[in-house]
Amino acid sequence: MTTLNNKVAVVTGASKGIGAGIARVFARQGASVVLAARGADVLDLAAELRAEGCEATGVQCDVTDPRDCKRLARTAVESYGRIDILDCNAGICRLGNFLDENDSWRDAHVNVNINGVWNACKSVIPEIVRAGGGAVVITSSVTGDLVADPGEAAYAMTKAALVGLTKALAREFADRNVRVNCICPGYIRTPLVEGMAEQSDPDNPERAIDEIARAVPLGRLGTPEECGQLCAFLASDDASYITGAQVVIDGGSTLPETTSMGQ
Ligand SMILES: NC(=O)c1ccc[n+]([C@@H]2O[C@H](COP(=O)([O-])OP(=O)(O)OC[C@H]3O[C@@H](n4cnc5c(N)ncnc54)[C@H](O)[C@@H]3O)[C@@H](O)[C@H]2O)c1
Repeated sequence: MTTLNNKVAVVTGASKGIGAGIARVFARQGASVVLAARGADVLDLAAELRAEGCEATGVQCDVTDPRDCKRLARTAVESYGRIDILDCNAGICRLGNFLDENDSWRDAHVNVNINGVWNACKSVIPEIVRAGGGAVVITSSVTGDLVADPGEAAYAMTKAALVGLTKALAREFADRNVRVNCICPGYIRTPLVEGMAEQSDPDNPERAIDEIARAVPLGRLGTPEECGQLCAFLASDDASYITGAQVVIDGGSTLPETTSMGQ
């Protein structure tokens, strides 16, 4: 059982979906958590965690704005004295046709998915170094290394970039005792995936979700809390010799040579 007792963690994209799952698990494992997202709903989740007896503070923050990320780091240090863990999870995914979309489609993905992680790392890693070391966990995706369907050019490009950033930062900060790893989720049931299901089958989005589940060897989508458990392990002292790793959490959906034969 991993534990984050006495750790201070910053989680971006924490208002819903995977980020909310990560924040819940971190807080329930004893961390003081600073939850960041653009909308005011992040304040509600922080209040919900406080009502459970956890330490949690919500900050409205757009990770594409470096000043917002600096304010986020400042708030965490003012609230809890230091930062041990940064979980860069905020991200967007909009499918589109490569030849039809204009460059703002590409730029939106680059701004949130790459620059947002960059900005959060620039602002928070110095605080982790000041605290004597700690851990960064970045949410990449199985998409990037692999792709499922047409339409993923902008998203896949940015998620693949995060694997490179993870490894480069792991190398650069190893001597300051900062471990950097990324998680690569497959299909996790979140508002993002529910939105995609609605797009693909507006009459019956549950049918689209069931179809995804059938293609996953474990027979279901993952939960945000399952991602939270993995992030908590990577962020904890139990993972003290793991850095620069890319950990897949996908119920087996990217296993090569998976077929439906024999079922
Ligand atoms: N759901 C999946 O199946 C899946 C699979 C692989 C990777 N991912 C990745 O996991 C992460 C979370 O995905 P999700 O499915 O929970 O998405 P979601 O849309 O349900 O939640 C996204 C979160 O990011 C926040 N966010 C978006 N842009 C932001 C910005 N500019 N500044 C601050 N916060 C911002 C939103 O407020 C929200 O809290 C993303 O990076 C996504 O690419 C998701």
